[in-house]
Amino acid sequence: MEYPVWVVPFLTAPMLIPLVAIPHVIVAQFAVGGGFLLADGVAWAYRHNRRDALDYLRDLARFFVLLTIVFGAITGVGIWWTIGLTSPESTSALIHVFVFGWATEWVVFVLEIVSAFAFYYLWDRLRPREHMAMGWIYAASAWLSLALITGITAFMLTTGRWTPESNFFAAFFNPSFLPQVLIRTGGSLAIAALWIGVHLSFRASEGLRDELVPRISRWAIAGMFLILIGGIGYFAVLPDHARLNVIRAPLLLIMTALNFGATLTALAAFGLGYLRGGRWINPPEAILMLLIGIVAITSGEFLREGARKPYRIERYIFSPGIRVAEAPRLQQDGLIAHSPWLQLYLRETMGLSEEELRDPARLPEPQKVRVGEALYVYHCSACHALDGYNGMRPLIQPWTPEMLADAVRHLHRTNPAMPPWLGNEAEREALIAYLIRLQQGGEP
Ligand code: HEC
Repeated sequence: MEYPVWVVPFLTAPMLIPLVAIPHVIVAQFAVGGGFLLADGVAWAYRHNRRDALDYLRDLARFFVLLTIVFGAITGVGIWWTIGLTSPESTSALIHVFVFGWATEWVVFVLEIVSAFAFYYLWDRLRPREHMAMGWIYAASAWLSLALITGITAFMLTTGRWTPESNFFAAFFNPSFLPQVLIRTGGSLAIAALWIGVHLSFRASEGLRDELVPRISRWAIAGMFLILIGGIGYFAVLPDHARLNVIRAPLLLIMTALNFGATLTALAAFGLGYLRGGRWINPPEAILMLLIGIVAITSGEFLREGARKPYRIERYIFSPGIRVAEAPRLQQDGLIAHSPWLQLYLRETMGLSEEELRDPARLPEPQKVRVGEALYVYHCSACHALDGYNGMRPLIQPWTPEMLADAVRHLHRTNPAMPPWLGNEAEREALIAYLIRLQQGGEP
């Protein structure tokens, strides 16, 4: 607990991450899958000497480069900003473990940008072979950057045999790395086909649509198979606590249903596109299909993130930003003793002394409640808004004080998505005083 906490009403701070990260993933996956589809399309057009197709693909490449690079860069940096502010401990831990990975990712990213620009801006000036090569270099580097990032995000869910003493590769090649690379590669091909479907529906002639839609559908169907194989592998390596979350949490169950429904609908559309050509694809249908693809990605990302509780980084950092290894010390000395910002806050706002901070249970009731509130912010507010997402007020409404005390004492048994109580006895009493106050509707 080396950092202050950012309280976001109604949503909780970590829920800001998907607001930025999911739009990023939707476009970033287009950046990866679109690379393969464009390189393949250009190769096909050169092979058959199709000027009309090359002209269309140039128009598509312009849309592609603008959207993926501008939007990708803005939201990509946005992710750093949000994770840095909402979960500083985990961000710092990831930077420490993966510093070599980020550096590699940066080099690959430069290659990606340079080849994408060369592919589009030197369209007429490169010889066909060079132009095709540039397309494939772009596709390969974009995919490599997907694989690098996936190693890091997969690590948060499955740390596998990694320990703080082991090296980069133990963290990177974690159990869910390969399944997630397969899922994301497949997802990229599928979502790219849907994005390109929208562009085709607006900008390509009927004849060209008939030729190109079966081509992109074939890539997308191959992508669906990767998702299937990766999905099976993913559920096989999912830790027990994560699997339990998916079954128990109503929101995650809804996400699973949405995910399957949307994926199957997209698969049917690709099948149709493959068999019947693309003449039938008009803008409203293409946009609807893209939206269905977006639902599939959004629900998939929610599942991946939601399943991680009670950890930010599996078996290493708990969701309130507390290292698992620190838990016994916190349970003995107290959360306040190990949280410099919390101490500062309580000293400055309430004028409490060292001694009073060590034993808040002995404070007079109103002060005890205020300390309890601060503890709530540090220990609970990452997962519970007061009202709103996982709202604490409605959750505890029907409970008696004894039940509340018991729930906090055995927090991880009350619901396995929660960490154990990470403070000492006196702090627990203060927190319960606050919760009872909250339940009675009073503001402390
Ligand atoms: C890692 C995230 C996380 C943290 C941290 C967390 N909780 Fe929870 N808590 C949950 C989830 C998820 C649920 C299940 C909500 C549901 O069933 O709708 C839950 C449920 C509860 C419930 C209701 C239990 C039940 O079975 O109905 C209580 C009470 C509760 N939490 C109290 C707390 C308190 C107090 C803290 C801080 C000391 C805390 N939680 C910290 C995630 C968390």
